[in-house]
Formats: sequence, C-alpha cells, structure tokens
Amino acid sequence: MNQVIELLNSHRSIRKFTYQPVAQEIINTLVQAGQAAATSSFIQACTVIQVNDSNKRSQLMECSGGQAYVGEAPVFLVLCADMQRNKLACEMNDAEINSGYTEQFITATVDVGLFAQNLTVAAESLGLGAVYIGGIRNQIARVADLLELPDMVYPVFGICLGYPDQNPEVKPRLPVEVVLKQDSYNDSNDQQTIAEYDKSVSDYYRTRTGGNKDMTWSEQMSGMLTKEARPHMKAFLKDRGFLLK
Ligand SMILES: Cc1cc2nc3c(=O)[nH]c(=O)nc-3n(C[C@H](O)[C@H](O)[C@H](O)COP(=O)(O)O)c2cc1C
Repeated sequence: MNQVIELLNSHRSIRKFTYQPVAQEIINTLVQAGQAAATSSFIQACTVIQVNDSNKRSQLMECSGGQAYVGEAPVFLVLCADMQRNKLACEMNDAEINSGYTEQFITATVDVGLFAQNLTVAAESLGLGAVYIGGIRNQIARVADLLELPDMVYPVFGICLGYPDQNPEVKPRLPVEVVLKQDSYNDSNDQQTIAEYDKSVSDYYRTRTGGNKDMTWSEQMSGMLTKEARPHMKAFLKDRGFLLK
C-alpha cells in the first residue's frame, strides 16, 4: 500500500457539505488535474461548466429529481463530452469534421470519465468530498438548454464538491475474483461469490441507516435494471449530433 492507493480505497460519495467555500484557485487546480488524465488520440473532449448562478442551480436540482445537494453544495460542475472544439480545430485547417460516429461518442464520453475521476481524486486528496450526479440526465435537454450547449456537446454528469459535513463508511465493492478474470470470461463461481457479497452490502446498509435500509446488491440491481433507463437519451444524443453512424 501507499498513500495514493489508500486514498483511492477510502473513497465514499459525500452528499452533505459544510458552508465553507472552495477557493476558485482550488477549483482551477482540480480542473487541471482532470486535464492531466489520458485522452483518446489527444482529443481532450471534456468541457466543465461551473454553475454559480443560483437560479440555474435550483433548476439543475429540479432536473436531477430534486437532489438537494445539487443546489446546496458549495461547487457544482457539469462535465460535458465536447466535440465542438475538435470541429473548430478542423475548420482552422480548412478541413470538415467527419462527425456523428458512435466511436467518437465513446471516446468523448470515456475522456469525460477519466477527467472526472482525476478531478475527484485530486479533490479528495485536498480533504474535499464529492458526489457524481448522473441525475442531470433525467432532463438532459433542459440541462443542455439551460447551459446553452451547442451541437456536439452533451452533459454527461454533474459533480457536487465541498468540504464534507458527514463521514459515511466506505461502501464494500465486489470481491476481486468476480471482477478480475484470467485469460477468458469464466463466471462459474460468480453466483456464489455474489451471494456472499450480498451479505456484506446488506450489513453496510443496515449500519449506515440504523436498520432503516436492508438491501443486498443483487436486490438493488434487480430493482433498478428491470425498469426503463432514461429512454429519451438516444433521441437526444442523435439530435445533438452523436450516434448518427
Ligand atoms: C456517473 C455517476 C453518476 C452518479 N449519479 C448519482 C446521483 O445522481 N445521485 C447520487 O446521490 N449519487 C450518484 N452517484 C454516486 C453513486 O451512487 C455511488 O458512487 C455508488 O453508490 C457507490 O458509492 P460510493 O461512491 O460512496 O462508494 C453517481 C455515480 C456515478 C459514477
């Protein structure tokens, strides 16, 4: 173990923050740490919108299904997959971008994920807490309009940041043997391993909620993955110039 690995293993989402503001200098440093992540073919396809305006913040909270911390966190960032700048780069060289490929959607979205995780880990290393907000995709078209996003830019998720005003336990992850396979995909032991893991997740929820929530991981997945998953996403992304070919 070393300090970096210890920091990574101590991650837990923070949803309650103190009123202590986060200096803009720190936010800039975190964004720079995000930029330092690897980026597919150097496309650098992540754009961050820092939302300070209180009216926009409350609208984003509504878009996220009323998650209070979206309005309350000292900092709220919207991380966007952005191919618009790459289009401009082509135009600067009198070239026309050949856009709309699903591959470009994947690379831009992966770029955002890597950028975001670098930013989040950097924040945690400075004593800040964070939670990702995929909930903004509940009303993604409204979010895009609110932030005046052009074509070829889409909001992937938000991040709430601030100094933690809670200290939740680390949430147990699946055992490595389910996640790491050797040479080929072999899931013959997965069911039994998951059944054991289920017990540790229900212990975690019981402890964290003082007995109010008792749910296993497989129950949680069954509840979520049998419902519709934001079915408006495909049409929205096509409308914005993604997933066309
Ligand atoms: C892309 C992404 C979107 C998420 N969206 C939300 C969200 O909208 N609201 C929320 O409270 N947590 C959200 N989370 C946090 C997850 O629920 C959390 O990471 C997961 O339950 C594991 O818990 P931990 O982060 O405390 O280890 C999101 C996480 C990710 C990676």
